[in-house]
Amino acid sequence: MEEAKESPGLSLCQQVSDFMRMVLRFKIDGTDPSLVPIPAGLSANMMEDSYLCVDILLRACQTINTYQTPWTLHELRNWRRGGRKKEFPLTAELIHPSVNGQKEVYRDTPCNVRDREGRIMCYYLPGILSQRRQRQLQTAILDLCDSSIQPLTLDPASGRHWRTNSVLFKDGDTMNLRMDPGAACYSPCWLEQGHPHSPPGPSATLMNNIANLTLLQDTQEVAALMGGILSIIHPALFQRGMDVWKTLYADPWPLRNGDRVRDLLDLWATPFTAMSVIANRETPHHRDLNGGLNFFDAILTFGTYEEGRFELPEIGRRFRYDRGTAIFMEARSLAHGASAVVGERCCLVLFFRPLMLKRELPEEEMDPEDVPMPTLGELRAAVRSD
Ligand SMILES: [Fe+2]
Repeated sequence: MEEAKESPGLSLCQQVSDFMRMVLRFKIDGTDPSLVPIPAGLSANMMEDSYLCVDILLRACQTINTYQTPWTLHELRNWRRGGRKKEFPLTAELIHPSVNGQKEVYRDTPCNVRDREGRIMCYYLPGILSQRRQRQLQTAILDLCDSSIQPLTLDPASGRHWRTNSVLFKDGDTMNLRMDPGAACYSPCWLEQGHPHSPPGPSATLMNNIANLTLLQDTQEVAALMGGILSIIHPALFQRGMDVWKTLYADPWPLRNGDRVRDLLDLWATPFTAMSVIANRETPHHRDLNGGLNFFDAILTFGTYEEGRFELPEIGRRFRYDRGTAIFMEARSLAHGASAVVGERCCLVLFFRPLMLKRELPEEEMDPEDVPMPTLGELRAAVRSD
């Protein structure tokens, strides 16, 4: 019997994940990581980037780079459900560690934020994108802007949705911007909002726009690297995402525009179910209520700018948000925001739609939103058992 064809994109992601996890295991065990066998299908650049990702991630997990909140994620969510009637102990003073007894102004080294139970809800990973990768992403966005009349959505100030409201974007009419301001989402297969009972299919942005397909191609390797990181920091979420894509790839015909889904999944190289691009916007504090409980979003920043700041108000921390930074965070429960910058900033976000992960969930598998955020001990045990 002929073996089912694998998606080249998803195979790339799996290879990156296997390689990163092995490099990490060698490092944890004190074995020279340069002795990790070289996978046949990974380019030298991808291997170099994988080593960088593991290095930064390990630094972020050191005790000295850990913040622990006096509350649990569960308590934070319960407090919200209760309408915030009581005061909640969210003050920065209660968060450890401090630097020389002083509250830090800006964090600028890799770190993790975990709750009282040790469940890690945020990884701050500055410098995780090499200069070469940043240039690649920047070129991808500039090419997108050159090849489309309106590559990204920008609504008038009277618009209802803050995410595309021009008030929050730099003014392309008065400023000489290279990246057109706006935002757009892309998914090879998702449920259209407002149509939960129709079969899922490609986002409208990927139905017949060649420039957006080129964008997927140009961001493929970075998406695979972010998938590799996810496989370390939340193995169950990574596995569920990959399983869903593999199932849909093998049998896309019942989907809306199934042929198209399959073509898109040839390129899609990450377990995340959607990606968005946001150019030249400042982002007010918000939570992503369409995201999943206990899921990670991956947020990447690049461009030509200075003075970037990323804030987690409930953690009481403000982070430098220089180009080349990635932040993995539970964006549904934790409020977050990014300040305006001097220059042009672009952001790539990889995220999940929970309904896609719950589709045809095998009976023996737990609802992905019920799987708790892993602790460092759980992650270490998972890597050692590979
Ligand atoms: Fe967000």
